[in-house]
Amino acid sequence: MSVVRINAIEVPAERADELVERFSKRAGEVSKMPGFEAFELLRPTDDRTTFLVYTRWSTQEAFDAWVNGQAFQRGHAQHTGQGPVSQHAELWSFDVVQHEEAPA
Ligand code: HEM
Repeated sequence: MSVVRINAIEVPAERADELVERFSKRAGEVSKMPGFEAFELLRPTDDRTTFLVYTRWSTQEAFDAWVNGQAFQRGHAQHTGQGPVSQHAELWSFDVVQHEEAPA
């Protein structure tokens, strides 16, 4: 089964649009990595201030290869070059133990 790795980012409400804007200009290289399965940027719709960057991978090794490679650095160029929008970030790790999707 796949693994899910989520980056949970704390973003003050007044900078939420700025974070979404940065992701709209993202490198888009993550999806070219071997073992990549899915990415979603999840914006809170209640009064929480935690955005979730959801990624799913075939294996832990596939995720590690992306995090330790140049695609990850290029994928965070705005963050690196313009400074953080976030106040805090935390990596959450899960194994997928059940999975179902609507038929295509
Ligand atoms: C200090 C930790 C991190 C912060 C504050 C952060 C923040 C950001 C920001 C602002 C972007 C927008 C693009 C850019 O900046 O150029 C981005 C891209 C991205 N982040 Fe992070 N990030 C962090 C670590 C991680 C980790 C550990 C993951 C893995 C779950 C992750 C997943 C992604 C993905 C998938 C993209 C899009 C890359 C692409 O399109 O190729 N981030 N991140």
